[in-house]
Amino acid sequence: MKHTITLIPGDGIGPEIIAATVRIIEATGVDIEWQTHILGALAQEKYGTTLPESTIESIKQNKVALKGPQMTPIGKGFTSVNVGLRKSLDLYANVRPIKALPGIPCRNPELDLVVVRENTEDLYLGLEHVVVPGVVESIKIITEKASTRIAQYAFEYAVANGRKKVTAVHKANIMKLSDGLFLECFYNVAKNFPQIEADDKIIDNCCMQLVMRPEQFDVLVLENLYGDIVSDLCAGLIGGLGLAPGANIGEQAAVFEAVHGSAPDIAGQGIANPTAILMSGLLMLRHIGEHDAANRAETAMLAVFAEGKVLTRDLGGTARTEEFANAIIQKMKASGAANA
Ligand code: NAI
Repeated sequence: MKHTITLIPGDGIGPEIIAATVRIIEATGVDIEWQTHILGALAQEKYGTTLPESTIESIKQNKVALKGPQMTPIGKGFTSVNVGLRKSLDLYANVRPIKALPGIPCRNPELDLVVVRENTEDLYLGLEHVVVPGVVESIKIITEKASTRIAQYAFEYAVANGRKKVTAVHKANIMKLSDGLFLECFYNVAKNFPQIEADDKIIDNCCMQLVMRPEQFDVLVLENLYGDIVSDLCAGLIGGLGLAPGANIGEQAAVFEAVHGSAPDIAGQGIANPTAILMSGLLMLRHIGEHDAANRAETAMLAVFAEGKVLTRDLGGTARTEEFANAIIQKMKASGAANA
């Protein structure tokens, strides 16, 4: 079956890691027509907007996109393209699987958890204003609708993926109304999933527990800001940002992207680790029903890690992005799993 997928190379290291990933995916033999589109500063130059209608329309039509990182300058005058994209497509669930990889040093080689982050509200609405000079108010919005929807997604994800427990992470002891509502919605939804254990942790304790005893966690569900921070912490547990994939899921579309950003410090050097975006691509393949191709590419990638000979610099190796991708393609060819 032929698939049409929107491809957004992104900024910084984006085009390098996307190119490597597309080569690996194509080597599996999956029939994909990529429709390349742009966002952010590039789009601002070309179309006068960072979120061009043509890009949004392409994703709406294809229902699936693979996206490289987009930079968001800190300070005034440039709102986050990532937040804008998630809002315009109502990509309400951000899913970040965190699994230890063979051969990559990790304090807990059995680590295997999933962070489910609410993507549409919380402090990320960017509702800030100056109350009086020297005093700024930033408004946190938490709604019953979004909290229920993300809890429902987390439990459904747990059931569909053979997971046993969902933990809500919050600070309801201090933010009694907002985080209290999130927690209340979580336990209301939990009642409908008696086969899945439900518990909760206060965010600060959760961070400590993730570092000390991460094996106690299975699926975590969090508001937007906590989810952003905790998923980076979890990426650190398995060897860094270059290894953590992600998916932004909505009712109408899904956008797959790495947890990391555009890494301007190493952009253009051909040394970035494409693993996170590749694994996002594998989540995408499974999302469109191409399980076999995803499994073959994943097996080859895991074999390259287990050998530990061709690793990028962030993992202590010397391989360039392309060399790492070539090693995976070679592994697929050697096992007869590649079409290339
Ligand atoms: P970053 O994730 O781009 O980089 C943090 C550190 O991790 C850097 O030292 C970088 O070299 C390293 N790193 C990240 N990905 C890597 C990879 N694949 N291989 C090897 N090393 C890697 O975070 P930073 O510097 O805070 O953000 C840079 C830009 O990216 C900002 O404009 C930010 O807004 C944007 N960003 C975009 C995201 C997205 O598009 N989803 C997510 C996070 C940040």
